[in-house]
Amino acid sequence: MAGNKTVGIGLVGAGFMGRCHANAFRSVSGLFDTGVEPVAEMLADASAAIAASNAQALGFARSTGDWHELCRDPRVDIVAVTAPNALHEPVVMEAITAGKTVYCEKPLSVTARSAERMTLAAEAAGTLTLVGFNFLRNPMIRLAKDIIDAGEIGDIAGFRGRHAENYMCDPDAPHSFRTHPDGGGAVADIGSHIISMARYLLGPIVEVNAKCKTIHKTRPLHAGSSERSPVEVDDMTHSLIRFANGTRGSVEANWAAFGRTMDLSFEVTGTKGAIAFTQERMNELLVVKAGAISGREGFVKIEAGPAHPPYGNFCPAPGHHLGFNDLKVIEVAELLAAWNGGAPCMPDFREALEVQRTVEAMQNSSRSNGPVTL
Ligand SMILES: NC(=O)c1ccc[n+]([C@@H]2O[C@H](COP(=O)([O-])OP(=O)(O)OC[C@H]3O[C@@H](n4cnc5c(N)ncnc54)[C@H](O)[C@@H]3O)[C@@H](O)[C@H]2O)c1
Repeated sequence: MAGNKTVGIGLVGAGFMGRCHANAFRSVSGLFDTGVEPVAEMLADASAAIAASNAQALGFARSTGDWHELCRDPRVDIVAVTAPNALHEPVVMEAITAGKTVYCEKPLSVTARSAERMTLAAEAAGTLTLVGFNFLRNPMIRLAKDIIDAGEIGDIAGFRGRHAENYMCDPDAPHSFRTHPDGGGAVADIGSHIISMARYLLGPIVEVNAKCKTIHKTRPLHAGSSERSPVEVDDMTHSLIRFANGTRGSVEANWAAFGRTMDLSFEVTGTKGAIAFTQERMNELLVVKAGAISGREGFVKIEAGPAHPPYGNFCPAPGHHLGFNDLKVIEVAELLAAWNGGAPCMPDFREALEVQRTVEAMQNSSRSNGPVTL
């Protein structure tokens, strides 16, 4: 908005998520009054040439092939880290040292130890942090939490969560940072999303009993390569879980799920009803409550609309639907409001560390063939 003070954005990595962040910083001021105006100051990528090309495409004023330069740049206030997971810790540590606000993609890092170092450094420096678990920003997820917290489905009895996609079904899908041990496999890549969702809805998870499984034992070294190397991470993980509040349930992470493109889904069962959600139909929440007339029982569909904030910031009419990129805009709006002195935004590094510990507990549980207490 005209007259607002400006905040300089530095983006490290301009792939799938970098583009999503750039779009969100570009769009946010037309939709939310955060009191500050983001300025696309600098973009860093793997080389100077890639960075220059991406900066031009995404509207960043300057570019660099060296993320150290971006972290030190006096006109960059917020460092957004959308590079592969193994780069999160070094970039974040330098950004914290330089006094920047840090907006890091999930998972926070490659191990819980690394995520802890980042969290302790940020807390010691008083750094404002946010981690990109954007699916929590869906107004229907906020509605689900409100329904649970208000006791509308009674005492919570069970949770069934899943994040299933099909992008690694093909045995010839090549290795990437996601299949490198640093990438953490399906349980870190998408399992982290359903774990963060479970924690948001029902609180801390205190015990897991998991089995991680690698379906495709080798993959091509890179796209088009005839040379293959072993896969050291899971394609799918199934875990029993217990929450601190005593609720029991299960979580599945699966990136080799035929027919599933974005099944980040859950069902929460209470003593007086249940709610169900899948990101594939992200504008709907299904709710069933006890007491229906016999023959009329069943889930009722609540469709997203202006009654579910901040949907109305995007559209005055119900049923017109938000999309994936809108969740990032909402996330960025909360970050900018916090940067401008508003309430701290969540999930911060401390919360993302707990997600990382849960991911790692599942991997350890699988290795040890037994439950792991967190
Ligand atoms: N929140 C979500 O919904 C979501 C979705 C997808 C990915 N992610 C996360 O975003 C991060 C990036 O994933 P992606 O899918 O965008 O990957 P990607 O491969 O599409 O993009 C990575 C980018 O980082 C750049 N890069 C590589 N090395 C670099 C270096 N040394 N310096 C600067 N840039 C470098 C690459 O050139 C590329 O532009 C990961 O942590 C991933 O887990 C989050």
